[in-house]
Amino acid sequence: MSDSTDTSGPTTGAPGGGGAGSVAVHLDGITKRFPGVVANDDVDLRVERGTVHALLGENGAGKTTLMNVLYGLYEPSEGRVVVDGDPREFDSPRDAIDAGVGMIHQHFMLVDPMTVTENITLGNEPERLFGLAVDRDRAREAVVDLSERYGFDVDPDARIEDVGVGVQQRVEILKALYRGADVLILDEPTAVLTPQEVEELFGVFEELTAQGKTIIFITHKLREAMTAADDITVLRGGENVGTLDAADATRERLAELMVGREVLLDVDRAAATPGETVLDVRELVVGDTRGVRAVDDVSLSVREGEVFGIAGVDGNGQAELVEAVAGLRDADAGSVHLDGTDVTDTSRRDRVDAGMAYVPEDRQERGLVMDFDLVSNGLLGSQHARPFAENGRIDWERAREHAEEIVAEYDVRPADVDALAESLSGGNQQKFVVGREFARDPRLVVASHPTRGVDVGSTEFIHDRISELRSDGRAVLLVSSKLDEVQSLSDRLAVIYEGSFVDVVDPEAVTEEQLGLLMAGERPDADVSVEEVSR
Ligand SMILES: Nc1ncnc2c1ncn2[C@@H]1O[C@H](COP(=O)(O)OP(=O)(O)OP(=O)(O)O)[C@@H](O)[C@H]1O
Ligand SMILES: [Mg+2]
Repeated sequence: MSDSTDTSGPTTGAPGGGGAGSVAVHLDGITKRFPGVVANDDVDLRVERGTVHALLGENGAGKTTLMNVLYGLYEPSEGRVVVDGDPREFDSPRDAIDAGVGMIHQHFMLVDPMTVTENITLGNEPERLFGLAVDRDRAREAVVDLSERYGFDVDPDARIEDVGVGVQQRVEILKALYRGADVLILDEPTAVLTPQEVEELFGVFEELTAQGKTIIFITHKLREAMTAADDITVLRGGENVGTLDAADATRERLAELMVGREVLLDVDRAAATPGETVLDVRELVVGDTRGVRAVDDVSLSVREGEVFGIAGVDGNGQAELVEAVAGLRDADAGSVHLDGTDVTDTSRRDRVDAGMAYVPEDRQERGLVMDFDLVSNGLLGSQHARPFAENGRIDWERAREHAEEIVAEYDVRPADVDALAESLSGGNQQKFVVGREFARDPRLVVASHPTRGVDVGSTEFIHDRISELRSDGRAVLLVSSKLDEVQSLSDRLAVIYEGSFVDVVDPEAVTEEQLGLLMAGERPDADVSVEEVSR
């Protein structure tokens, strides 16, 4: 639409890519309608071969839908998908893959007990594999070759369940490459990664584009778009509101394009005035799903008017710690006290009744019932209690009002409480869960990655709400893999590594480098501790 600037093609030599400067993908006037919603509105998008193209936009702007059209998951209502200069009609992702278009969704589709090699080669008809499916050695060799060619560091024999998210993502990318993808689409690939893994992923992007591959990735992080992409396209309300050369982009300009107004990008807040202890966790030990010690003797306390943050590389026990506090996982030893009462062996519902709100890490598994509407989803956790229920009867009118309040306050789009949770975009699902939990009038909020997948404007809003809860005298336990988030919101910040706290630091005094070291289990030279850790 407006603001489109032509790019001068790839800066890399694109050896083997051929056709440098040619258009790999042209989305030509794509419109995609769902009942009552225009998700994509006459979108025009050109992606040059051998470049990285970032797709930005608010929650519900239509990014995932547009990429699903390109990947053959949705048929466009209007417009054409042109790949390599040829108009295509994809009836399924299979057709897209045949045309060299691969997509890596946010929820990985790997088979846990199988190995890396098995996952990469899985699902290809034997005749297309030239016998590789029956020949394990050759399959393995092909995987090793691919990994070496693109500079991936993966063990072809590792089981998916034993490797971290970062590696799983690489397996997904390898799987797409194995199937011959020339264009790779990644939907919010960095949302689940640590800063280091993000760096590595962007290194992989460079390697891929240098060899002529084309990458389109969706992100909510403006800095990422500016560092990793050659071009940036912003969607707003389903329309393309501008394609910019990344070199000309600023955070302010991008944020304004996305939201249509200026956005404050920093958190500003008053000093803490902590009161009574609300949450007290003593010497907690929690096993993971395989019985291994995921949380190993952790103690912490959170007071009224305080945000206690936990930073760490995913998979170091923070998920299990939070679930044990929330009542979703049994503790093997130790205790959890809420307002002085021992709740270690109480149910999740008892803890909700005692004033604990919980924003789960996985909104689709734990936070929502996907095929329920928002009215019912707004009730989750409260369906047995006043003001929504009395004598076993639910007051649906009250429930509807409640859902409408959440939708209005948290700007959930579309603002339709009869919509099913599954029809909302990822970020809007997240906003609804956060809104419901914060509305509980809680003593304690346990928030796990509260802004994962949430756009800049709504992230700002959720951060403000967390600060408000704090100044309102609530206790907040915050887990996040976004360092700037835990750093700017927390009063004390613990770093977890292999199930234990390596340190509890002053978030204002600690630098990102020091945090990085702590997250890797090392102690930086300078002492940034604010208290003794339990081990
Ligand atoms: N299957 C569906 N049925 C009905 N509406 C849908 C469906 N999928 C998406 N939508 C709607 O289309 C619009 C665009 O959604 P989409 O998922 O593409 O947004 P997005 O830009 O990816 O947002 P986010 O950043 O939150 O992931 C939203 O209003 C959403 O509610
Ligand atoms: Mg999306």
